[in-house]
Amino acid sequence: MKKIILRFTILFITVIAFVSLTSNAHAELNSTVQITTTDVILFDENLQYEIASLSQNSVVTVLSKSNGWTKVNYQSQIGLIESSKLENALAQYLLVQSKTDPIVRVSNTQQSEVLGNVPINSVVKAYVIDSSSYTFVQYGELSGYVQKQLLIKPTAQARIVKAPNGLNVMQTASSSSSQVGQVANGTTVTMLAKLNDWVFVTTNDVAGYVQGSSLKYIPSTNVPKKPSTPKPVVSTKKVALTFDDGPHPKVTQQILRTLKKYDAKATFFVVGDSVKKYPKVLKEVSDAGHEIGNHTFNHVKLTTLSSKQIQSQIQSTDTAVKSVIGQNTTVFRPPYGAYNNSVKKQLKVPNVLWTIDTLDWKHHNPTKTLQVVKANAKNGSIILMHDIHQTTADALDSVLAALQKQGYEFVTVSELMQK
Ligand code: NI
Repeated sequence: MKKIILRFTILFITVIAFVSLTSNAHAELNSTVQITTTDVILFDENLQYEIASLSQNSVVTVLSKSNGWTKVNYQSQIGLIESSKLENALAQYLLVQSKTDPIVRVSNTQQSEVLGNVPINSVVKAYVIDSSSYTFVQYGELSGYVQKQLLIKPTAQARIVKAPNGLNVMQTASSSSSQVGQVANGTTVTMLAKLNDWVFVTTNDVAGYVQGSSLKYIPSTNVPKKPSTPKPVVSTKKVALTFDDGPHPKVTQQILRTLKKYDAKATFFVVGDSVKKYPKVLKEVSDAGHEIGNHTFNHVKLTTLSSKQIQSQIQSTDTAVKSVIGQNTTVFRPPYGAYNNSVKKQLKVPNVLWTIDTLDWKHHNPTKTLQVVKANAKNGSIILMHDIHQTTADALDSVLAALQKQGYEFVTVSELMQK
């Protein structure tokens, strides 16, 4: 074990350096830190042997993703984990308060290897996840475990930037560290800590260290009405709700009202024939900001058709949609999920299936729909429902309430696929 740790230490340092160089303030929302959603195995890069077995809520640093596997750094060990078993971790900025510079360790045990120290009075990005006495933190290029008791919630104070050319925002309290952004002259920032000549500040766009001498106290008349509090960096979990086979004159509209209540965006895979019958309903769906997908003209099984017939099913639906909303569909879903190469050849937009089938069309039971979604939802899920069944519309309020409570945001499939 010791040998493995030594062997990976060099890799670890290289990798962390790479991660910090390529990260910037905007990338922070798409955190490079994720946690395991269940007990999982960390495999070697050739998927030939097991490196470690991780329990649920273990912290990993993401290095890259491909083909359903995520390359991660887990306590200085590099390997692969199934992407579906990872989700973004919640982070917050915490202040280091102790008598000496706290030690950063490779894992959450006192015996584990020392990676470095974080300075007293610095602000670290902390991922408070497990119930152990350690917290995973990032400070510049250093990341690892620090004793939880040495970190406190900082007090936020508003300051204004008084520097004609603005200020460079640095990753750590040093002019030689990497620059993560800039704040312009006159910007109001939230100050979380002072560290020698440096001050850790956050704005909506950037977080890091700036030279403290150019930050001025805001006289009471200028203090913004809303006291600025440290905004925890929250990595939002997202799901895409999809509704097939509409538009329907009544059910679709009930669904639209419920989506509006939760400020949710969804994707409607419409059937061309119904678009012709209920153009006003489609217009309402589109005007409400939802995405419109193509689900063929007659809801036919495309794999039984000739290339020409497939083309006609797709194009006539696009024409019908465009005549109502002024633009083509942006995604496609084949009825019954049935497609083959000749279907793929006709597509100019992404072919989107689903990850959760509520089977709403089969059981017509709102409680069951809710149960299926609750049991299976995770970050990145695409949920299949149908806006032609009253029971689906009736289920939607409880589905959205349950997912919202779990911290999910509701986005269109195209938004979900943007990464
Ligand atoms: Ni369908």
